[in-house]
Amino acid sequence: MRRLLPLLTKAPHAGGRSALTCRYRCGDACFHEVPNTSDNEYVGDVIAGALSRRSMMRAAAVVTVTAAAGATALVPGAPSAEAHGAGGHPGHGHGRPSDGARGLRFRPVAPNRDDKVTVPEGYAQHVVIRWGEPILRGAPSFDPDRQSARAQAGQFGYNNDFLSLLPLRGERGRQLLVANHEYTDEFLMFKGYDPENPTREQVEIAWAAHGLSVVAVQEEHRSGRLTPVTRHPLNRRLTATSRFELTGPAAGSALLRTSADPAGRTVLGTLNNCAGGTTPWGTTLHGEENFNQYFANGSGPTDKRYGIGSGATERKWERFDDRFDAAKEPNESHRFGWVVELDPHDPDFTPAKRTALGRFKHEAAQPRLTSDGRPVVYMGDDERFDYLYKFVSSKRMKKGGSRAAREHNRTLLDHGTLYVAKLTGDSPAAEVDGTGKLPNDGEFDGSGVWIPLATGEVSHVPGMSAEEVYVFTRLAGDKVGATKMDRPEDVEPSPRSGRVYVALTNNSNRGKSGYPGADEANPRNLNKHGHVLELAEHWDDPSSDGFAWRLFLVAGDPTDPATYFAGFPKDRVSPISCPDNVAFDPHGNLWISTDGNALGTHDGLYGVATQGSRRGELKQFLTVPTGAETCGPVIQDRRVLVAVQHPGEVDGATVEKPASTWPDGPGRIVRPSVVAVYRKDGRDIGV
Ligand code: FEO
Ligand code: CA
Ligand code: CA
Repeated sequence: MRRLLPLLTKAPHAGGRSALTCRYRCGDACFHEVPNTSDNEYVGDVIAGALSRRSMMRAAAVVTVTAAAGATALVPGAPSAEAHGAGGHPGHGHGRPSDGARGLRFRPVAPNRDDKVTVPEGYAQHVVIRWGEPILRGAPSFDPDRQSARAQAGQFGYNNDFLSLLPLRGERGRQLLVANHEYTDEFLMFKGYDPENPTREQVEIAWAAHGLSVVAVQEEHRSGRLTPVTRHPLNRRLTATSRFELTGPAAGSALLRTSADPAGRTVLGTLNNCAGGTTPWGTTLHGEENFNQYFANGSGPTDKRYGIGSGATERKWERFDDRFDAAKEPNESHRFGWVVELDPHDPDFTPAKRTALGRFKHEAAQPRLTSDGRPVVYMGDDERFDYLYKFVSSKRMKKGGSRAAREHNRTLLDHGTLYVAKLTGDSPAAEVDGTGKLPNDGEFDGSGVWIPLATGEVSHVPGMSAEEVYVFTRLAGDKVGATKMDRPEDVEPSPRSGRVYVALTNNSNRGKSGYPGADEANPRNLNKHGHVLELAEHWDDPSSDGFAWRLFLVAGDPTDPATYFAGFPKDRVSPISCPDNVAFDPHGNLWISTDGNALGTHDGLYGVATQGSRRGELKQFLTVPTGAETCGPVIQDRRVLVAVQHPGEVDGATVEKPASTWPDGPGRIVRPSVVAVYRKDGRDIGV
């Protein structure tokens, strides 16, 4: 029976998202029961076993160092009155364009509900590539009335999310664009779509519209414009039916074997690729997020912990391929929920699902290197009350572009230790009252430890084998008492300071009856607007197991007393809600895109200084069209690239009754697209 879309009932949604987005993107992650029902708030034998005495002492040392050094341990410079300049509330479009930290000198865009991409004055924007544009040889031009799976498999996919721009050596003015295609919205793709009776062709088009795209782009000499290079030899599509390899310690496990793949090493497809990362060795990482929604007839505690429902799925793929029916192929869903690594420069490389990084709803995966050259990958599990993770490789990256170096570097993420985070506040619990009021020490802050879960084939979690830790990582986090967070999304280490920034989107259930209440790291009950956590590894050594943390931003309307902008005066910042993807610009500023603005205006992209006298000065750079989310920001010297995801995804909208006609205007189908923003005078962004 078709469930009524909550659009008709005005059901409350997390943030400002439509019911359609919740259904098709996340499989109603915010409506289904919170999958984490574990009671993990204990520091018992399990943790004592998992943590060394050394790590406990190190964590304590971090607190001491932070406290002793005052603001300097995490914050290189406090905001000063001098820095605040003239002008009014940036969120209302005031302020001089020349105000701001280097890289952020633009007049902020005012919050709005316009069905377009709005950029600051002096800036221009254009669409780089749209859903359906042909990128492979032989693929036809996009025709919404003549779609086919075959055509889509050679065209840019639907709902672009993560973006990466990689250098193309030897090809002047060209870069390689890599994009995730998180999910499909059949109501906005197919005229007359009947959700009860999808056709095989529609389902196969959806399979081909998921996955990843690689497409070369040509830079226009005098501006920041980018044009796709069709039929470039590196252009590539990977879809829900392409071949992927499982690698690392759980590859071949009995938990990963299916009737089609008795060896447990080869998977068809990648699903729900949300955000990702770009590695220092030139590959890209792609998080498989809400994979649960594609699998029908789940049963048992592990399916439940991952949110795999017991009935039919929304898209009904299980009618067309048994592997999407958990009653018939119970292990197939175990082969999704991983971090995928792709080498976009090698069209023959079989993309790999790296089991050493664990299985959960991977939002993203962004590495940095330890001082001795080993990659550390930070990762969020985007679910209410789920966890923050990191992986530390035991192998060093080899420099240079030789074949041997590339082959070596492709093994870095198969060997190392997977950790989950536990955060402890430094203020008395009674001072964190759930309203967002700062505790008496003036900050939401504290210390943390990375609890090891598994190293290679050795489990650190009593009662679980290493294979179980990798395949059922959420349960391992439950057992060791990881901290339940408010939807950990993208995590990005600053290339300048090494500090790590974690976007926590929101958590409508925090503090509700039967759910955990506020703690210092998640300090607001019914958290509508989210926050951004800043984390400093012990002695700036990302392979250590202790860290210090503080909240960098507590989002919302700055006139709301329950907000915090790193101590910067709140009459000088833009309103922000539901931080999601984060990226750094070449100046060390953090850029934040939003998903589900609960302040009632459209989602956007913001820049904020993380260091110096303007630390915390948040400025809105752009807004996206009706129903859309801002994704995949890439900030280069001369351009800002964003993925406009699910434009027009408003409750009740269809192809025939669109809520948005972006980017091509009335009479044309709405199309998720990548947008480049550049300065009209050809100079660098924000200087
Ligand atoms: Fe796909 Fe957590 O956003
Ligand atoms: Ca505190
Ligand atoms: Ca996201």
